Amino acid sequence: MSLEKMNDLNLNESLVPETKEINGILLTKTIYNDWDKIWNFQAKPDDLLIATYAKSGTTWTQEIVDMIQNDGNVKKCQRANTFDRQPFIEWIMPPPFISGFDLAINMPSPRTLKTHLPVQLVPPSFWKQNSKIIYMARNAKDCLVSYYHFSRMNKFVPEPGTFEEYIDTFLNGRVLWGSWFDHVKGWWEAKDKHQILYLFYEDMKENPKREIQKILKFIEKDISEEILNKIIHHTSFDIMKDNPMANYTSMPISIMDHSISPFMRKGMTGDWKNHFTVAQNEKFDEYYKKKMAGTTLTFRTEI
Ligand code: A3P
Repeated sequence: MSLEKMNDLNLNESLVPETKEINGILLTKTIYNDWDKIWNFQAKPDDLLIATYAKSGTTWTQEIVDMIQNDGNVKKCQRANTFDRQPFIEWIMPPPFISGFDLAINMPSPRTLKTHLPVQLVPPSFWKQNSKIIYMARNAKDCLVSYYHFSRMNKFVPEPGTFEEYIDTFLNGRVLWGSWFDHVKGWWEAKDKHQILYLFYEDMKENPKREIQKILKFIEKDISEEILNKIIHHTSFDIMKDNPMANYTSMPISIMDHSISPFMRKGMTGDWKNHFTVAQNEKFDEYYKKKMAGTTLTFRTEI
């Protein structure tokens, strides 16, 4: 079914995904039901996987990578929506929706794929095939704020309740794809054992040239200074916000309602300061300290 036709669809309650846990990680029931299929996903050595915790700059990374792979050709990058260009491997939806899983298995190589899975749930074939993985992490507070607004506008994600309630939900990891803490730490530990480039949203924001150069080196690609500058421009927040192939405005309003909160919302660091009260911030910091004790992973929030 085309996206246009889906616009006429009256999304009924039964399509709003129920959630179910796999090894303590909350996922949609449709993912749970087809978990064997996902777990047995066949990765290939030339796959490039973009992995993130939700709302950490996935779409941004996807656009950067696609622009690199297409030598800065904007037209080529506008051949399809982000979710069709770089399929979301664990995304399984009932018909008439198209599952990222099906798109991925039918895609010719070399494939660039997307996942939000925590490292322990990544299909083992990715490790066996030694596929390259780019992981993008974002500081917890901005991630929470972004996830909160996304949960308000996206009918495929459980409703967030009030912001106060959502802080608890997020801290307890009772959101789709589980705890932010376990996700960022799990991937951080894995980066020394596999071909993983671990990037930060805040670094990309601060100096996209430096960070894109890291990606270029990692995927062993050379581009001219001119193309690099073009990529920086095309993947800036203001340009991506108006790019219908990247801003998710092609999704039916019954799934994503951008009038509640746009997918391309603010694209900044530190927006958490406009959301947290002093008391909420103190509570968050206390919990954060406990959960992040003993890790070498640190985040910058003052950019
Ligand atoms: P905000 O809600 O804070 O604005 P994901 O793609 O993982 O779902 O992440 C979405 C978040 O990344 C949103 O954050 C979105 O605005 C932000 N984002 C998307 N493209 C961006 C860009 N080019 N520059 C900065 N942030 C971007």
